[in-house]
Amino acid sequence: MNNTKGIIFDLDGVIVDTAKFHYLAWRKMANDLGFDITLEQNEQLKGVSRVHSLQQILGWGNKTVTEEEFEQLMSSKNEDYLAKIAHMDEGDLLPGVKKVLDYLTEKNIPFALGSASKNARPILKGLKIEHRFEGIVDGNDVTKAKPNPEVFLIAAETLGMAPEDCIVMEDSVAGVEAANLAGMISIGIGDKEILKEADHNFSDFTEVDIEFIEKIVRK
Ligand code: BG6
Ligand code: MG
Repeated sequence: MNNTKGIIFDLDGVIVDTAKFHYLAWRKMANDLGFDITLEQNEQLKGVSRVHSLQQILGWGNKTVTEEEFEQLMSSKNEDYLAKIAHMDEGDLLPGVKKVLDYLTEKNIPFALGSASKNARPILKGLKIEHRFEGIVDGNDVTKAKPNPEVFLIAAETLGMAPEDCIVMEDSVAGVEAANLAGMISIGIGDKEILKEADHNFSDFTEVDIEFIEKIVRK
């Protein structure tokens, strides 16, 4: 009998510090359209799909665009974002992440990715950790964006685990909500106040010690 739970990692802002580049790219786009977005507003964009992020931002700026312009804005934001992260490598793993991944691999504790990003695979490749995930579920694999739990439920399937046997690591409000709706254990990585709906909270992975992992993954 398998006595181990599985872990599902979000990508942006959990494994790698791409969250700030998403913000910079959206902010540049908003500035070009004549308005600004704040860091506080950006919290509401974390974990949110590209389409929904753009809808939200245009709403904040009171902008209406044609379908064609919408597509154009999404693709230029993405180009800008990809240019910002082009040189990402193993050194860009967030502090403490490698230690946890190494421990999970060593102890045969399965883990998968559950990300809203359509860029997840190339990013994992750049970080040289793609092969270490049992399953990778990203923005290309889902029809419903976080806070809908779909991405985590599919990730649980890749692990062959029931939702209640999965632990989700998330830096976004939408992602914590998705994990909770999926019936999984949610761990908020980031501001405790913002991620107050999570079952456990850590500021970052340097705070997540091996004893905690050991305790939480055992059934
Ligand atoms: C999430 C990010 O992981 O992916 C969001 O937190 C981003 O900021 C979303 O909008 C979609 O990412 P991408 O790479 O497909 O534009
Ligand atoms: Mg995230």
